[in-house]
Amino acid sequence: MENIFTIAEFCLHHTEFEQKIENTHKAKKLDDGGQLSFDSIEPIQPICHTKFPDSPQLLSPRDMPKRKVNSPVGKIAFFHALAHIEFVAIYLAWDILYRFRGLPKQFYQDWLQVADEEAQHFTLIRKHLLEMGADYGELPAHRGLWDHAEETGNDVLDRLAIVPRCMEARGLDITPQMIEKFRIQGDVKSVDLLTRILNDEIGHVKIGSYWFKTICQQRGLNQEDKYIELIKKLYVGKPKGPFNRELRIIAGFTNAEIDWLEESA
Ligand SMILES: [Fe+2]
Ligand SMILES: [Fe+2]
Repeated sequence: MENIFTIAEFCLHHTEFEQKIENTHKAKKLDDGGQLSFDSIEPIQPICHTKFPDSPQLLSPRDMPKRKVNSPVGKIAFFHALAHIEFVAIYLAWDILYRFRGLPKQFYQDWLQVADEEAQHFTLIRKHLLEMGADYGELPAHRGLWDHAEETGNDVLDRLAIVPRCMEARGLDITPQMIEKFRIQGDVKSVDLLTRILNDEIGHVKIGSYWFKTICQQRGLNQEDKYIELIKKLYVGKPKGPFNRELRIIAGFTNAEIDWLEESA
């Protein structure tokens, strides 16, 4: 029987993206058929062993060209940036599953489902880019998404606070505005694609909130106090609003957490 941690390590240590996507979908299918072992295999390789492809070239956010999505070039740049976020999201889902052991089987199954959906998102956006005459890797991309993983590799609560409950949650604030921009332009394809992704992302943040709450309870911690403490410790700068309260509540945030984010922004 194949082992989830062996497949996770393969996906984290190999750069070829079609192979990574194939293995991610294969692991999900094996789990759906009850054909996947969740026995822990050690050693766990350090996070600095994770390998990324040579392209896209990675630039710091301030060196990234700023473009509006109402030009064809701007639209390609937007979806290229999104393809990169989804590509790194595949790694993030595999890494949370790979790095933190000894949790219930459902934890691993949940993040495998997230990895599978991120791989679907990447494929859908890449297809959208190809239809616009571009491809993933042709433009520079945002350096730094992976920094959040490296900074939170020691404790699963750190990772859950910063990745699903901060980075991915930000997508719930921003994506509805982007959907509206494409709707105004009459770009039905982009609207449908982003709507599909938004629905899945609500689920990812919800999974993150569920495990954050569950692990806080196991450790006898107050969820809201711990969340605030970790954001203060790990997030550089002020939280960025405005926050989409409605979607964040569906995704497992409490009103008190959102109140604190709004007061701190
Ligand atoms: Fe995604
Ligand atoms: Fe996601």
